[in-house]
Amino acid sequence: MAYNLLKGKKGIIFGALDEKSIAWKTAQRCYAEGAELVLTNAPIAMRMGAINQLAEEVNAPVIPADVTSMEDIENLFAKTKEHFGSGVDFILHSIGMSINVRKGVPYPENNYEFTHKGFDISALSLHRVLQVARKQDAINEWGSVVALTYIAAQRVFPDYNDMADNKAVLESIARNFGYFYGVEKKVRVNTISQSPTRTTAGSGVKGFDGFINYAEKMSPLGNASADQCADYCVTLFSDLTRMVTMQNLFHDGGFSFTGVTKAVIEQMEKE
Ligand SMILES: NC(=O)c1ccc[n+]([C@@H]2O[C@H](COP(=O)([O-])OP(=O)(O)OC[C@H]3O[C@@H](n4cnc5c(N)ncnc54)[C@H](O)[C@@H]3O)[C@@H](O)[C@H]2O)c1
Repeated sequence: MAYNLLKGKKGIIFGALDEKSIAWKTAQRCYAEGAELVLTNAPIAMRMGAINQLAEEVNAPVIPADVTSMEDIENLFAKTKEHFGSGVDFILHSIGMSINVRKGVPYPENNYEFTHKGFDISALSLHRVLQVARKQDAINEWGSVVALTYIAAQRVFPDYNDMADNKAVLESIARNFGYFYGVEKKVRVNTISQSPTRTTAGSGVKGFDGFINYAEKMSPLGNASADQCADYCVTLFSDLTRMVTMQNLFHDGGFSFTGVTKAVIEQMEKE
């Protein structure tokens, strides 16, 4: 069901890789709610081609940008302004990557070259995007920026590895930049802390199956799906949440505030 919540709004969606991606679902939901979109991803991800399918479906141009390159981000915002003939009203940052995770290097043994690269892509990229947007005055007043994060920023999940540090910084950037952008232009910046979700990035974490099943049992409402996350993003891009900024918002079926559930106790009693 659509409510026209984003009618007349324009946005940039980072990170749609394939149809499992949270960004992919969010693009579809934003389009259904009346938004006009620009899609972007790293040139290497775009070579896989799937994003063009989405582009056709949501009637959006695709502008490549590697988020570690200032030049690419500058070009993305300049081309987006040309395309819309105006600034944008919302941005989804749905980007994450850790080479330590990919290569199975455990946290205490992290390779710092890998750490730097992952940090640049997963955390600093939000600062870069906001810095370029601000310089080019590319976000309209009352605009909304959302980045995706995970509760490993606050609690230990050993196999989440250096992504835990990246997410902690990402949330901090959202808070701090949210202050400056809020004061200057009433632009709001928030992070959504999503349940584990079966996507390319998600499934890369070691022991993901056990992890997602545990979260399901530990959440009174069960795990939030990618589609439900897309719904939540729509509300944050809409005018109904104008006074929400600098927040880390848990979208996890209650996991973050649950000590234990009956389902988990029953499982433990079997051992
Ligand atoms: N899947 C989960 O369990 C889960 C849970 C909480 C938060 N998140 C977060 O959600 C976001 C989206 O991930 P997803 O689960 O949809 O997986 P995904 O693999 O579909 O998306 C990750 C995206 O990051 C992009 N990316 C990587 N390097 C890039 C670069 N240099 N420049 C530009 N883009 C780059 C990839 O191309 C891909 O589109 C990430 O921030 C992730 O950490 C995921």
